[in-house]
Amino acid sequence: METLGNLRRTRYCGEVSLADAGQEMTVCGSIARARDKGGIIFADLRDTTGILQLVFDEDTPKEVFAKAESLKSEYVVICRGKLRERASKTDKIATGDVELYVSELRVLSEAQTPPFEIRDEINVNDDLRLRYRYLDLRRPSMHEPIVLRSKIMQIIRSYFTDNHFTEIETPTLIKSTPEGARDYLVPSRVQPGHFYALPQSPQLYKQILMLSGFDRYFQIARCYRDEDLRADRQPEFTQVDEEMSFVTEDDIMTVNEGLLKRLWKEMLGIDLVTPFERMPWNDAMSRFGSDKPDTRFGLEIQDVTSVFANTEFKPFAAVIEAKGTIRAINAKGLADKLSRKNIDKLGEVAKTYGAKGLAYSRLTADGTSSSFEKFLTEEEKTALYAALGAETGDVLLLVSDADWVKACTALGQVRLDIARKHDLIDNDKFNFLWVVDFPLFEYSEQEGRWMAMHHPFTMPKAEDLDKIESDPGACHAVAYDIVLNGVELGGGSMRINDPALQDRMFKALGFTEEKARASFGFLMDAYKFGAPPHGGMAYGLDRMVMLMLKKDSIRDVIAFPKVQNAGEPMSGAPDVVDEKQLADLSIALTLPEKE
Ligand code: AMO
Repeated sequence: METLGNLRRTRYCGEVSLADAGQEMTVCGSIARARDKGGIIFADLRDTTGILQLVFDEDTPKEVFAKAESLKSEYVVICRGKLRERASKTDKIATGDVELYVSELRVLSEAQTPPFEIRDEINVNDDLRLRYRYLDLRRPSMHEPIVLRSKIMQIIRSYFTDNHFTEIETPTLIKSTPEGARDYLVPSRVQPGHFYALPQSPQLYKQILMLSGFDRYFQIARCYRDEDLRADRQPEFTQVDEEMSFVTEDDIMTVNEGLLKRLWKEMLGIDLVTPFERMPWNDAMSRFGSDKPDTRFGLEIQDVTSVFANTEFKPFAAVIEAKGTIRAINAKGLADKLSRKNIDKLGEVAKTYGAKGLAYSRLTADGTSSSFEKFLTEEEKTALYAALGAETGDVLLLVSDADWVKACTALGQVRLDIARKHDLIDNDKFNFLWVVDFPLFEYSEQEGRWMAMHHPFTMPKAEDLDKIESDPGACHAVAYDIVLNGVELGGGSMRINDPALQDRMFKALGFTEEKARASFGFLMDAYKFGAPPHGGMAYGLDRMVMLMLKKDSIRDVIAFPKVQNAGEPMSGAPDVVDEKQLADLSIALTLPEKE
């Protein structure tokens, strides 16, 4: 193994081009691949920016050529040479027009054969890749998103600082508060039996910062939520968090459209058209069956309840009797693709999301097969077809339920399933929209009480202020989510800055005065000393990067992600700790006996 000696990098591999031909330069990195063609050796050198071909031949100094012969994949080297035009060019790499004719080579580290090949388009199981994450991150398709994420963060920082925001760090060992997801707890050694929580978001601190007169705050903040993993959810994730004083929700949305416009322009060269559509929550749910509608394709849900007002078809009649609803999708022209078997599978999807079943009519040139039409009158059938614009080749899918949100949610999932399986989604599109006018509360059967749909500090709509106690289910919030291609990218709200109104909200949420004080007393007190009107929002940075780079999972844009069991496979976290550490924390374990 050699040292750098007097060689120092003068250029990065991915940043040279034909315009640099003839120049002497020093580059360094890892050998992606070495090919000894007898008398001439090619080696691909990889650094964080890309790949550059190195060449050695019989005119190369003898000791350098000998070292080149020893090169293997993943050896770490530094070398100096002259850039020249390549005889056989390739467009597979960005620097495919050039190569470095090496005159000096130092092998800085040798490498074992890695457990999988370090190149894109490999088929290796996820467990192995995650255990050797450092090797996986050398592969260009895994490496680039992490570099681009850093650029995205720089643009975000510069946008906010250009717009009078101050970047402020808030604590990550905080008080556990009720509401929201489950907290990660950290025991205090100094105060035995007391626990910090890791923040689910900087929400309370950023509100307090507005009361401290900072006017506009932002932070790229690590957040922790002990909830189940999904493709767009990690227990540990990053928010782009912000709060602004002396503004309304319109101002906040405008500032954020500016941020997204700048990001998409600078990262992707795309001019987003603003303002984005604003869709009331009610419309999102009834048209798309989701509070994060994917508007890149049609298949919208329609209300066909009135068609069945006097129906004899028992399941629908029962729902009508219960003042329920019948909703439908016309899967236009998909009769060929949606076989009976496929429709049965869609029925399973609907049931998973709470529907009792999925009624269907498949209208083919050979006739109609339907689970319910034989129970309909001719008038009902005609009215249904007219309402859905049904023609030969279509498949009609219906869900009935006493609860319209449930019926729409189930159909919304059926809609997504059809679109994904039958290629109805244009992956080049970036469809942004704001979902607005959220309900203020949602009723939890489990808790037997009203819960805040966003959080307890969300400002109710002015016109609903007199309904908070009498009709909570009818109240709406000054809250907004930004949705991109069917993913909730971020969300926020205007906050309550009137202590009396905050008291009413806590009561409506079933807090006793003591419980409200115990959890949020410091915040309630703070609002008594003069509070500007304020509001804000937070993006999931991981989701933003994932969508921008068209990745399938946020795992692909996080350097060291967690897996399904919330562990981090490379380091082996979480792990047991020794008795002494537990004793210091006054913690005794009560684990179930192992079988
Ligand atoms: P909310 O809970 O909606 O709002 O979170 C804001 C955004 O954070 C992202 N996000 C996540 N990303 C990855 N993994 C997770 N487990 C995860 N959970 C949330 C989502 C989401 O839209 N304090 C409020 C914001 C505010 O009102 O200002 C908040 O945290 O993209």
